[in-house]
Amino acid sequence: MTLLKETANGGFFDFYGVNLFFLEAVIEKLLQRIEDIDDKREAMGERKLCDNVRYRIKTPDSMKAKLKDRGLPQTAESAMRNVCDAAGLRIICPYIDDVYEIARILSAQSDIDVVEIKDYIKNPKKNGYRSYHMIVQTSVCYMGETHFVTCEIQIRTMVMNSWASAEHQMRYKKERGEDSASEELLKSCAEKMLAIDYSMMEIRKSLENADNVTTKLAN
Ligand code: GTP
Ligand code: MG
Repeated sequence: MTLLKETANGGFFDFYGVNLFFLEAVIEKLLQRIEDIDDKREAMGERKLCDNVRYRIKTPDSMKAKLKDRGLPQTAESAMRNVCDAAGLRIICPYIDDVYEIARILSAQSDIDVVEIKDYIKNPKKNGYRSYHMIVQTSVCYMGETHFVTCEIQIRTMVMNSWASAEHQMRYKKERGEDSASEELLKSCAEKMLAIDYSMMEIRKSLENADNVTTKLAN
C-alpha cells in the first residue's frame, strides 16, 4: 500500500522532502496494526472495534500556518521536531467502550509509545466536542535506517464524529461571526448525542448478556 497518490500533488514532497516517506510509513504501520487487531477479533468471533479509519498528512499550507502561529521556522525539520500531528489517524468506533478498548490495545503495543493523551470524552471541550486523542511515537524503517515518528490518533464514536464533522463545516464558514445562541444549540446537540451513545452501548450490552445466558443454558 502506498499513500503517495494522496500526496503526489499539493507540494507535499517540496515541503516535507524525505520526511514525507517517514510520515507515510508511520500511517501505513498504524493502519496495518489497527486492521490486525480487528482481524484477530473477527477470527475469534468478536465484534470489530473500528467502523472505519481515516488518515491524512497535514498539508504544507496548514503546517506552515501552524508553525507561523507558534513563531517557529516554517521548515520540514521544524515541523517534524515541534508538531505532533503532521501524520494523523482518525478511528471511528461504533460504541463508547470501543474507543477505550482500541486505545488500550494500541497503548499496550510494545513498539508504540504514548506521548500524550487528551480525553475529550471525559473532559469535553467547552463547545461540546468529544473525542479521545493520543499522540504516539513509533519507529519506521526507511532505506535501512530507523526513524522515530509521532502521529496523532483521534478515536471517537460514529455519533461523536457526526457532531464533529458538522461543527467543523459550520466553523469553517469564516464570514460568520460569533453566535452564542448557535453555540449553545450545538453544545446541547452534543449532550443529546452523548445520551444516544450511552443508550446504544447499553442496548448492545444487554443483548450481549442475553446471548451469554442463552449460550450457557444451551451448554
Ligand atoms: P492543534 O494546534 O489544533 O493541534 O491543537 P491542540 O494541540 O490543542 O490539539 P487538540 O487535541 O485540542 O485538537 C487537535 C485536533 O482535534 C484538531 O485539529 C481537530 O481535528 C480536532 N478538534 C479539536 N477541537 C475540535 C472542535 O472543537 N471541533 C472539531 N470539529 N474538531 C476539533
Ligand atoms: Mg494537535
